[in-house]
Formats: sequence, structure tokens, C-alpha cells
Amino acid sequence: MDHRIEHIGSDELADLVDAFNQLTASLEQQKQLRDQWLSDISHELRTPVAVLKGEIEALQDGIRPLEMRYVDGLHDQVSTLTRLINDLHTLALSDSGAKDSDQRNAVTLLDVLSPIVERYELRLKEKSISLEHQLDGNPEIEVFADSKSLQQVFQNLFENCFRYTDENGSVRLSIQESKTEATIIIEDSYPSVPTKALPKLFERLYRVDKSRSRANGGSGLGLAICESIVKAHNGSLNAEHSPLGGLKMVVTLPKSSNDEQ
Ligand SMILES: Nc1ncnc2c1ncn2[C@@H]1O[C@H](COP(=O)(O)OP(=O)(O)OP(=O)(O)O)[C@@H](O)[C@H]1O
Ligand SMILES: [Mg+2]
Repeated sequence: MDHRIEHIGSDELADLVDAFNQLTASLEQQKQLRDQWLSDISHELRTPVAVLKGEIEALQDGIRPLEMRYVDGLHDQVSTLTRLINDLHTLALSDSGAKDSDQRNAVTLLDVLSPIVERYELRLKEKSISLEHQLDGNPEIEVFADSKSLQQVFQNLFENCFRYTDENGSVRLSIQESKTEATIIIEDSYPSVPTKALPKLFERLYRVDKSRSRANGGSGLGLAICESIVKAHNGSLNAEHSPLGGLKMVVTLPKSSNDEQ
């Protein structure tokens, strides 16, 4: 795909040549990224399908007795695959620019966060992790959003806290607001992420510790999805180190203004 043009002179035509060559370079890079993505995702899908096939064959051949616990295991694996396929679908939709803007309206942050916080207070207890928040004391903040997508963002972030925080640790949710923006911070205790890995967290299929995240059922798509949803809402998502000793995720969303309603 080398369609670059030689320079002819230093006039307008030369500028045009430059622009054309830049476009070619960027298309080439996009093609490489797409090829890499396709090969990574095929691998990601092939592995669990191969495992599943092997286990079904073991049942067919009688190597494994047809017991309910094995069928339950197969069901768990199909559920994991379904989740992976749904995540890919979400990303494909956001790539194609399909936005469900008609489902957006003024949403109260507390309404989105409260059910998730309630769920994770219980879930984090399983690992003796405390969840600190002041949801009751926070003022009502409204953002212009699709509430299902926002729920998905916070659910993914809390699930990461659950998966990647050691037992007896802590998680903290805090909300700040300025005149135009709401900032939601979700941070946790040890382990953290190496500084140079912080910007990579949002790349598709990126996992800091592949074996640990895979064992947790992670495929490295959660944060890519969070970022694409937050960006589609004209907000931003950043990863930093937390003073609690782990990761700090900062979500900023524009507040709902009257002209959007
Ligand atoms: N709170 C956290 N603390 C420490 N590491 C984290 C935290 N959140 C994410 N990570 C690291 O970032 C990686 C990417 O996270 P991401 O949510 O995108 O994918 P995942 O959790 O592996 O899989 P998925 O979310 O698709 O099920 C994780 O695999 C983990 O290594
Ligand atoms: Mg995740």
C-alpha cells in the first residue's frame, strides 16, 4: 500500500503532496492496527471455544462422567464467551458511530450510582474490602446521558476494583462538581498499575497481568468500553495512582444544561 508521491516543488502542489502522503501513512497505520486487532480477537475467541470443545468431547467419550457439575462448568464458559461477544458488539457499535443519543436525557448521578454501590458493598465484603462513599451527603448532580451506558461504565470500574484489589483492602467513591462538570472518582488499594502501563489500560485486550486477569475472567475490553462511552458523552476518563495504594479512575462528565433538554 505504498502510494506515496515524490516531491515536485515547494509550491501549493508540494503542500498537497505532503497532505496526500500523510493521509497514506495514516491509512497504512490504521490497516496495521485493524489487522492486529483482528488477529488478537480471533485468538481471544478461539481459546475458550477450543477449551469448551475439548470438555464436551470428554463428556461424549465418557472420559468424564456426565455429572451436573461439569455441565455447570460448560455453562459458565458459555456465559464468559457471551460476555466477550457482547463487549465486542458494544465496541463495534461505538466504532461505527452508532450513538443512542435519543435515549439520553437528564440523569441524576445518584440514581445511576446508588444501585451499583449497594451491589458492590455486598460483593466487596466477600473479599473483606471496605467501600467508602458519601452518596447520602452529595448534592443532586444531573448529567445529560444514557443511563444504561453510564451504569455500564461504573459497573465495569467497580468490578475492576473487586477483581484487582487484594483482600482486606479499601475502595473509595467520591464525587466533585464544578460549574459545568461532574467528576466521579473510584479508587482502590493495592495492587496498583506500573506508571508506564497507565495509558495502555484503555487499549483493547490490554491486561497488566495476563494470567491474573484471565483467571478473573477478564479479557481487557472493560476500560476500552468505558472510555468509548465516556468520550461519546463528551467526557473524559483518566487513570492515575491512588493514595490508597492502588488505581484511581477519574471520570469527568459535563453537567446537564437546560438547552440540552
Ligand atoms: N482497579 C484496578 N487495580 C489494578 N489493576 C487494574 C484495575 N483495573 C484494571 N486493572 C488492570 O487493567 C487491565 C485492563 O482492565 P479492563 O477492565 O479493560 O479489562 P479486564 O478487567 O482484564 O477484562 P474485562 O473488563 O473485559 O472483563 C486489567 O486486566 C488489570 O490488569
Ligand atoms: Mg475489567
